[in-house]
Order: sequence, then C-alpha cells, then structure tokens
Amino acid sequence: TTLLLLNGPNLGILGRRQPEVYGTATLADIEAAVAARISDRGWKLVSVQRESEGELIHTIQDNYDSIGAIVNPGALMMYGWSLRDALANYPNPWIEVHLSNVWARESFRHESILSALARGVIVGLGALGYELAAQALLDLVPAPS
Ligand code: DQA
Repeated sequence: TTLLLLNGPNLGILGRRQPEVYGTATLADIEAAVAARISDRGWKLVSVQRESEGELIHTIQDNYDSIGAIVNPGALMMYGWSLRDALANYPNPWIEVHLSNVWARESFRHESILSALARGVIVGLGALGYELAAQALLDLVPAPS
C-alpha cells in the first residue's frame, strides 16, 4: 500500500527557498516525517516533486492505486487547470497542503482552484502540515480488520 506525496514547482529546494516564508525543513525532512507517520500502518511513501505540470499529471495517472495523496501544488494552486482535471480523476482522498498561510500573503494566493476537489486543506502550519495530512489520511482510510 502506498501513499502519494506530490510537490509542485519550487518545492524541491525547500530549506533554501525563502526560509522566512517556507521554513528550514527540506523536502527530505518532510518525506522522512511523513514516512515515519505511516509506517505503523505498513504504508509506503511514494514522493514525487516536479517543476512542471505535465510531469505532475503523469505521476497522478501512474499512481491511481495509491491509498491517498498529499498534494502541495505550489503556484499551480492558482492556474493549474490541467492538474485540477488530473486530480478530479484521482480515485482516492487527497489533501491539499500549503506551508505558508496563503491567506496572510498576496491576494493572488487567496484562491486555490484545486481546493474544492480536496478532501481537506491544511494551510500555514509549515512542514507539520504534511504530517497532519498523513495523520488525516490514516484516519480517513479504515485499517483492514
Ligand atoms: C505554497 C504557496 C503557493 O502560493 C506558492 O506558490 C508556493 C508554495 C506553500 O506551500 O505555501 O509555491 O504552495
């Protein structure tokens, strides 16, 4: 059983990207924290970060068998209509995460075109947001009895 962690443009350089906005945790740190959260359930993490929308879409299409997904679309939150269509066809619950509190920032970040499709949205809690999303998916997906 796999959980998909999908990060969009400019999220591979976390830790070195505007740390005052996005914090000092690297993507590797986040992957380790999420993997640790889900390991008790026996889930494996598939983590993919891409700079381009098309590659993110391929990744979604290739991972329909994942149990759920955590998606930080980066700036595609504002204009990624093809990514939105890909997520609309993703069969399992997914949670949108933003490290920064987008509501406290520029007004162009105030609307995500993806959020209406998400099972939930976690904003402004930094790297912890990914862990909370993993926890939410653990709760949403019943453990096999
Ligand atoms: C972000 C917020 C987006 O507005 C921005 O374009 C990003 C990062 C976040 O995690 O806070 O790339 O998704």
